[in-house]
Amino acid sequence: MQHYKIQYAYWGMGEFFAALFPKRGALENFHSKLKSITHSDNIILLNSGRTAIRIALKVMKSSNPDRKQVIVPAFSCDAVFEAIKAEGLEIRLVDVDENLNLSIDKLKQQNFDDVLAVVAEHCFGLPLDMETICALSAKHKFFVIDDSAHIQKIKYRGRYMGGYGDFGINSFAQSKTMVGGRSSSGGALIINNPDFVASAHKYAQELQESKNTIGEFIFFVWVYLWEHQTRAIRHYFTTFFRRPDTSQIVGMSRMNSTNAAILLCQYEKLDKIIEGKKHVVQLYKKIANEFPRIELVQKISEHYIIKLNFKIPTNMSVETVFQALKQENIQARRPYDIHWTKEYPNSENANAIADHMIELPTTIGMTEHDVRSILTVFQKVIS
Ligand SMILES: Cc1ncc(COP(=O)(O)O)c(C=O)c1O
Repeated sequence: MQHYKIQYAYWGMGEFFAALFPKRGALENFHSKLKSITHSDNIILLNSGRTAIRIALKVMKSSNPDRKQVIVPAFSCDAVFEAIKAEGLEIRLVDVDENLNLSIDKLKQQNFDDVLAVVAEHCFGLPLDMETICALSAKHKFFVIDDSAHIQKIKYRGRYMGGYGDFGINSFAQSKTMVGGRSSSGGALIINNPDFVASAHKYAQELQESKNTIGEFIFFVWVYLWEHQTRAIRHYFTTFFRRPDTSQIVGMSRMNSTNAAILLCQYEKLDKIIEGKKHVVQLYKKIANEFPRIELVQKISEHYIIKLNFKIPTNMSVETVFQALKQENIQARRPYDIHWTKEYPNSENANAIADHMIELPTTIGMTEHDVRSILTVFQKVIS
């Protein structure tokens, strides 16, 4: 059987050249492109989404130092938790709904007296009801981060996602919509609240440009993009060429021109990426109807989604399914590691869903035949 892999980025020769010979003005150029797709004048380019969250939190903390808690959906990326902890704030988990987005019903039941902010995340791109969250924020005086880490140029009720609340954030790390490289290869802070523009810029100006190196770029290409071809010789590669030192880039920094140059190429492909991915997702939705045991986790209509997750039976472990698919040449991906969630009570949905789902490949260009082959194997594995 053909090998079906998870695609970490859609890169071509343009991205390679851009990384090796970054054009002058790439940062300014990407900045203005991002402004045009978010319709915002106040964007700061950074090394990661978590840096963007941290700057947002710093600004909010200094605006309301009495409040200490940040609400996060109980199914979320580690990076979000790390950012909140790093700013010395307390995490309050609120359970997710069956679509893996923050449960609006549970959010409404919260006492907001000590809540500084809510991280409103569109899980894998599925829009969260931002209007209700913003109405609650006006009533209870907490701030909102519109966490659009996963998506760019997607509108929700007439406004670009990332444009709600006080701040929006984007990430350009692997597997997102536009990819600048591995983790810490790009992020953006969108400042929606005009009162926060000056202070956010002040924090950003204190940061250095990211030291992301060419070694880091090669590592991403070798290990992620060429994963299938390089697997066999990876052992020798890692023996002779040590993994690049990432200690300088994982902290807080501003985006560098290499990542901006790569992202400019990604910007040129953005519409194709969005449309191509939507097409594959629709193929899955249609063909999944032929398989009675197969069920999607999120209820997707026409949405753009970066990852497509399927339910697995409660009596099977994610690892068993993962390994069985691997045997059949299908690379699947495990869900977020939700060890944080497990430490907090009252997150039944997040715990129940996260332990029983798996992502299948949704590579742009897949045909009906590809999708049917993958789902045939998947149904066999979970039956
Ligand atoms: C929802 C969400 N928010 C924020 C981030 C942080 O982005 P970054 O990895 O660029 O720090 C991520 C990372 O994947 C994420 O999934």
